[in-house]
Amino acid sequence: MAEWFAGRISDFDHERRNTIEVNGREVVVLRNNGRFYALENNCLHMGGPVGEGMLMGKVEAVLTEDKRCLGDRFSEEEIHIVCPWHGWEYDIDTGEFAGDRKRRLRRYDVTTRGDEVYVQT
Ligand code: FES
Repeated sequence: MAEWFAGRISDFDHERRNTIEVNGREVVVLRNNGRFYALENNCLHMGGPVGEGMLMGKVEAVLTEDKRCLGDRFSEEEIHIVCPWHGWEYDIDTGEFAGDRKRRLRRYDVTTRGDEVYVQT
């Protein structure tokens, strides 16, 4: 297993992100609700910088027991990053493209040691 230094924990304060190179691929490292994530930074659509996108909960329908729709809400469990070029959304936990779950960005495990953050391959 190899590890790639991604920055100090404080580098990710205020929703800042770091982009590093891992085995020749651009990878964005981010923190959300205290947990770190690392994803390939090239959108599957046209190569846009996914890591510059906003984070938002998956939009999901609120249904009654008889399947009537009461409206939409933002998920608190599944968080998406939205590519800033044309809006493709990816699950930050799995890298899955929300429009086709068979397609995904490469994701990486992230670990911390002391104040340092590492991407693992
Ligand atoms: S390049 Fe990302 S949505 Fe088009």
